[in-house]
Amino acid sequence: MMLKLRFLSLFFVLSTGLGWAQKALPNPLILANGKRVQNAKQWHKERRPELLRMFTSEMYGQAPPRPKEMQFEVFDVDKNALNGKATRKQIAVYFNGKADGPRMDLLMYIPNHLQRPAPAILGLNFWGNHAVHPDPAIRITTSWMESGKGNPYVKLSCVTDHRATEACRGVNAAQWPLDTIIARGYALITAYREDIASDDPKTGFQKGIHPIYPDYQGRTDNFGTIAAWAWALSRAMDYVVTDKAIDAKRVAVFGWSRLGKAALWAGATDERFAMVISNESGAGGAKLFHRGVGENIRRLCTVFPHWYAASFKKYMDRDTLLPFDQHQVISLVAPRPVYIASAVDDKGADPQGEFAAAKAAESVYLFLGKTGLPAQTIPPLNQSVQGQIGYHIREGGHDVTLYDWKQYLNFADKHFN
Ligand code: GCU
Repeated sequence: MMLKLRFLSLFFVLSTGLGWAQKALPNPLILANGKRVQNAKQWHKERRPELLRMFTSEMYGQAPPRPKEMQFEVFDVDKNALNGKATRKQIAVYFNGKADGPRMDLLMYIPNHLQRPAPAILGLNFWGNHAVHPDPAIRITTSWMESGKGNPYVKLSCVTDHRATEACRGVNAAQWPLDTIIARGYALITAYREDIASDDPKTGFQKGIHPIYPDYQGRTDNFGTIAAWAWALSRAMDYVVTDKAIDAKRVAVFGWSRLGKAALWAGATDERFAMVISNESGAGGAKLFHRGVGENIRRLCTVFPHWYAASFKKYMDRDTLLPFDQHQVISLVAPRPVYIASAVDDKGADPQGEFAAAKAAESVYLFLGKTGLPAQTIPPLNQSVQGQIGYHIREGGHDVTLYDWKQYLNFADKHFN
């Protein structure tokens, strides 16, 4: 039996194209008891929940259920936004039902030219809803904001005493090509990461939703910040299913970098997301730790100690020996479509490792009767490959570009229409 298992895992390493040097990648289709998953029903009823439990206890931490007290307040509707091309809505999500409690604002733009509910892309933003577009009606968040110092992606000189000002409107618009998204017939729904949880290791769990869940801290599987962002994406979805303007069966969850890590976990845990898009999510997102390339677990757990559960720290310096890896998180999205994207100069995210993880998740897609990722090796730059798993590596560095969005919209067209 043992020999057979070894043979299977060796075969798995070879078949994912990773070569001899790496330790065997754990096979998503082998149960913890060593038995192979026999059919789709067993995947959904046994193996998928088993993997979810493992990643919850060992990496992301336990998340609370949907709060019973949660309230939504639609505080803004403009049917004539973006020169009449879209309807803008803003919704306050009061997580504990209290107006002075933690609050997340959802910003939505819905195309006006569709004669039916709109498919949507839902993703968190780094620098506030008001930074996504210069539209003067977008509420400026009062949540804490990073200062502009050393920030290569966006000029945040508009931030005073860690609060956004009027001058911050649209500063991050280059990463959110709203006109293109709307013209292509998709709604965009977004919310600001700091409305949900503090991304500052110093204030970690003292702001946002964490203080209302004290029982979820002080334990090894504590509710980490990546899990909190993923949880908030599910709370956004709780609103979306009530809004008739959106086709809730066609919502893709999207995220870049740390927010891509959150989008992947949201898609893994919440099957209401019909598609998952991970833009350069890298370590603790889509890349494989087993390769031992790029950002490692030690760095994640020391520079961003709030991101993952305390239990994850025991794997520091054991990246290549992990009993699990991120291809299994990707496989939890199956059979729903998932897109993993890399950028060639984004070395910390290990583009080869992101591709290898997407490829290693393929076995579950094939097992469930879907296509996988139609590429044996990493494709040339700027060439999107799209099966049920999509992938591209584009030129340039860590960013979200119009090129990236065009591939995601094509992928959504392919799977949603
Ligand atoms: C840091 C971090 C990455 C993360 C990135 C981001 O570079 O090391 O893991 O993805 O920030 O969120 O931009």
